[in-house]
Amino acid sequence: MTTTLDRLRGKQGRLAQLRSIDGKRWWHHPVTFVDDVITFPDGGQLASYQATELSDLGEHRKVAVRAPRGSGKTMPAALAFWWFACTRELAAQDWKILTTAGSWPQLAKYLWPEIRKWSNRMDWERIGLPKPRIGHELLTNELKWAHGEGFARAAKDPDLIEGAHATNMLVIIDEGKSVEDAIWDSIEGYFANPGNHYVLALSVPGAPVGRFADIHHRKKGFDDWHPIHVTLDEAVREGRVTREWADARLAQWGHDSVMYQCHVLAEFGGSEDGVIPLAWIEAAVERGKDSTAELRPHRIGVDVADTGDDQTVFAYINEDGVYRLERVTEGDVVDHANKLTSRTVKGTRIVVDSIGVGAGTLAQAKKLGLDAVGFVASERTTRLDRTGEFGFINKRAAAWWNLRELLDPELGDGICLPDDAELLGDLSAPKWMEAAGGRIQVESKADIRKRLGRSTDVGDACVQGMWRDVGRVGGWGDNAGAV
Ligand SMILES: Nc1ncnc2c1ncn2[C@@H]1O[C@H](COP(=O)(O)OP(=O)(O)OP(=O)(O)O)[C@@H](O)[C@H]1O
Ligand SMILES: [Mg+2]
Repeated sequence: MTTTLDRLRGKQGRLAQLRSIDGKRWWHHPVTFVDDVITFPDGGQLASYQATELSDLGEHRKVAVRAPRGSGKTMPAALAFWWFACTRELAAQDWKILTTAGSWPQLAKYLWPEIRKWSNRMDWERIGLPKPRIGHELLTNELKWAHGEGFARAAKDPDLIEGAHATNMLVIIDEGKSVEDAIWDSIEGYFANPGNHYVLALSVPGAPVGRFADIHHRKKGFDDWHPIHVTLDEAVREGRVTREWADARLAQWGHDSVMYQCHVLAEFGGSEDGVIPLAWIEAAVERGKDSTAELRPHRIGVDVADTGDDQTVFAYINEDGVYRLERVTEGDVVDHANKLTSRTVKGTRIVVDSIGVGAGTLAQAKKLGLDAVGFVASERTTRLDRTGEFGFINKRAAAWWNLRELLDPELGDGICLPDDAELLGDLSAPKWMEAAGGRIQVESKADIRKRLGRSTDVGDACVQGMWRDVGRVGGWGDNAGAV
């Protein structure tokens, strides 16, 4: 006579058998795993390129994906994470998943939330593992199971990265373009050890330098990598980005801009002669997301709309850098000054571009008793760059270079910038050249307008607001000197 217990045993036996079959079926096939256990919202599915990325990971093991912004890069990485953790855990093999990125916020604010999000859409009964609970098995940015663990490490210290070892390793590198070569080398080191190792790197591309670019350019020595380029057309066809978004970015940034090439077309771009490398600007935006400085303006940079421009811009600056941008599209130069009175607090200094129309705003701001000073781009300056080697052709060049130096990862002060598409476009637009006498010259506003079909008002407001003519080598914390 079969008892309930026997029937249960039999059922569990069959389940265990099924699981072990599933585990084997899924072992090399992340897409089969996703098809079997994940329910997409609103009847959705993997975009075709996401499916390709995952199946290529199962087959080629070293995959690097460059794709447009917002096209769904991080999401398949989160699914790869679960595929790997579940299959290796089911097989009772030791495993580790290292997740890394150029900055900590990229991991804590994007990748790990995505990992947690998709764990809620998985059929844990079918997988045969208990659903991990946040704060238990799934610690905030860590998963700990009997046979392995997944964890996050900011890509700063190659030693920290080198330390991880397991028979089965998966490395996920999000925003791989901002990860330095030394870190990539540490990761390559895993492949020297015996075992089953995989690496999935994803990013919007940046400047055509560094390991992520080398892999995509199929440089010698990286032929064991499998690069994938997701095009704008594919992302639009799959409904992950809209044509309207791409067209708006085209109008905003211009076709040949670094921003459009990298973020929309997913091509490596960025001229070496840009005043401020896009990667530095992006790093400042990431830092801004973590800034806890009080939102109280120490300074406000003001770029007053000139003929042909349609917006006046106020850039609000605190001790960490620029934290907010305000665009004013109505009123005249006097109205702008009146508006500024309600925006200032005790001690706020206003820096107004005072060539042309801005002079009216400056005069009115002074009349109102505000601490306002003028910025005259064409004026001479005795300021030198931080090496003390180069002078500048005028204040405009010095002020742009000043912002460049504040953002420089080696020399800079770790200042922050707000997440604003137009600002990223503006700051990455101007080029520089060396003028006679070893002085630095920055592309003129008129030339930029000709090249991009628009002016860089938002960037100029920030550049002016951050400028202090200390006339010597000085850092951001060193608040001496006036404009
Ligand atoms: N195939 C899909 N089905 C359903 N949702 C998806 C799919 N792909 C991505 N998403 C969701 O779309 C959002 C954006 O995706 P994701 O974060 O992967 O894009 P991204 O390319 O990494 O963006 P960014 O360029 O900002 O880093 C996320 O909420 C993600 O869960
Ligand atoms: Mg992402």
